[in-house]
Amino acid sequence: MDGLDTLKAKYLAAIATAADESALEEVRVGALGKKGEISALMAGLGKMEPDQRKAAGAMLNVLKDEIDAALRARKSGLADAALDARLKSEWLDVTLPARPRRTGTIHPVSQVMEELTAIFADMGFAVAEGPQVESDWYNFDALNIPPEHPARQEHDTFFMNRAAGDDRPPHVLRTHTSPVQIRAMTEQGAPIRVIAPGRVYRMDMDQTHTPMFHQVEGLCIDRDVSMANLKWVLEEFCRAFFEVPSVELRFRASHFPFTEPSAEVDIRCSWEGGQLKIGEGDKWMEILGSGMVHPKVLKAAGVNPDEWQGFAFGMGIDRLAMLKYGIPDLRAFFESDLRWLRHYGFAALDLPTLPAGLSR
Ligand code: PHE
Repeated sequence: MDGLDTLKAKYLAAIATAADESALEEVRVGALGKKGEISALMAGLGKMEPDQRKAAGAMLNVLKDEIDAALRARKSGLADAALDARLKSEWLDVTLPARPRRTGTIHPVSQVMEELTAIFADMGFAVAEGPQVESDWYNFDALNIPPEHPARQEHDTFFMNRAAGDDRPPHVLRTHTSPVQIRAMTEQGAPIRVIAPGRVYRMDMDQTHTPMFHQVEGLCIDRDVSMANLKWVLEEFCRAFFEVPSVELRFRASHFPFTEPSAEVDIRCSWEGGQLKIGEGDKWMEILGSGMVHPKVLKAAGVNPDEWQGFAFGMGIDRLAMLKYGIPDLRAFFESDLRWLRHYGFAALDLPTLPAGLSR
């Protein structure tokens, strides 16, 4: 049994250098497995003399236990190391903010529509809708613009084709959002408080006009609604929309067939250094048309003018977007140039709300 020390040194070295659990298992099988070297020696004890067997058996058992303990210690060491390596390679910083993938942006017109919807919703206005291809009755007649009225020419209307032989008046691409006043009142009656954002069409094209643009209509009908309410609502809107502490509005007498009296509204601003500032300065900029809804319009929509009255207004949405976000040319709004959209667009998940701020 002289070779036992050599055997011990050999196996302890093999155990210490086993690189992983399967290499270690090979060492174990080689020493203590059924056909292992130590097991063979133990099997050989049977052929020894009793005295010899006792001494050799004790030494072999000690060796076996030592190797066993070394295997166990190495095995748990390797398992810890494996776990450490796994933890290191699968490590993830959950506090790291996600990288925004800017594959798409919200168009400034959509952004402004969301913003003004949030502001007017806060004042009790619901959103109403109407078709873009409109009958001339809704677009004109019901709004107190009869066929011979000069306002029809001023609207630069696009007309739809009628089938040959059909001589009813042609439908039009709506020239303003005001027909939604008629539709909303016909459907809901009074009292009513709605806004109607949407596309409108006129034959016009230059730096500040495109054949398709966007308006938002406002309509508020109740028993005692007055111009004073109109003024407050518009001031409140402008303050919230332009995100300034105060604004000053100027009401100028004007004329629309569907309101009486009518007013165009200007906002105080300054253009100093080529930069627009709302609420200060000595310039005025027109932003909308408004007035008290004409009794004939109420009547056309089935609302009794002896019982109900109220105001309406119409604003250009694209214009609001240009003013608020400093966009110089309206035509670029509708050219779908990706560089423009990335520059002026808004992050898709940032919905404007009053408590969180409209434009962040
Ligand atoms: N419809 C008018 C326009 O397009 C705006 C307006 C709406 C004026 C409502 C008064 C009341 O110019």
